[in-house]
Amino acid sequence: MSNSFASADGGGFNRETWLTPPALLQALGPFDLDPCAAPSPRPWPTAARHIELPEDGLRAAWSGMVWCNPPYGAQAAHWLARCADHGSAIALVFARTETAMFQDVVWRRAAALLFLRGRIAFCDRSGKPALSAGAPSVLIAFDDASAERLERSGIAGHLMRQTPTAATAQESLFGEAA
Ligand SMILES: C[S@@+](CC[C@H](N)C(=O)[O-])C[C@H]1O[C@@H](n2cnc3c(N)ncnc32)[C@H](O)[C@@H]1O
Repeated sequence: MSNSFASADGGGFNRETWLTPPALLQALGPFDLDPCAAPSPRPWPTAARHIELPEDGLRAAWSGMVWCNPPYGAQAAHWLARCADHGSAIALVFARTETAMFQDVVWRRAAALLFLRGRIAFCDRSGKPALSAGAPSVLIAFDDASAERLERSGIAGHLMRQTPTAATAQESLFGEAA
């Protein structure tokens, strides 16, 4: 496996499992459930309960505080919508604020966002850090308890609280990524 990646949501990045660095999990956790956990054996736990393929974590029952660093690409929107439905969840995605995922789910349903300072060095499946990601990342909280965790985490970046809205869908005047 290559130990670096250059694009935010394409190429090798789509096809690989890139793990959340443990320092980030320690600052935000503990978590009860990771519904899209790395395949076993994983170098560190991300939550008390892991759901990994071939079980489909998107369709499984969720409980407790959820950690969600979802699969990349168009399917990420479904994971974020599930986080919003669940409420007690923190998600980690690329800060691509123009995408349908952000416009339709995050900007409407998130309680707080922490735009990270610098770029994350995600880890490969052996736990080895890669070069820094090809795009900035954001942590997204979907209820007050998870928003509090972002605030208390001490993770460097810009924290935004927001009131979820029920705005109606709007067509982009331009092209739009998923
Ligand atoms: C970006 S990695 C994040 C891994 C881990 N959650 C973490 O934070 O380190 C996304 C993971 O989702 C897993 N995955 C993809 N689709 C899934 C599904 N339907 N159910 C459960 N896991 C899934 C992949 O195997 C991959 O390891």
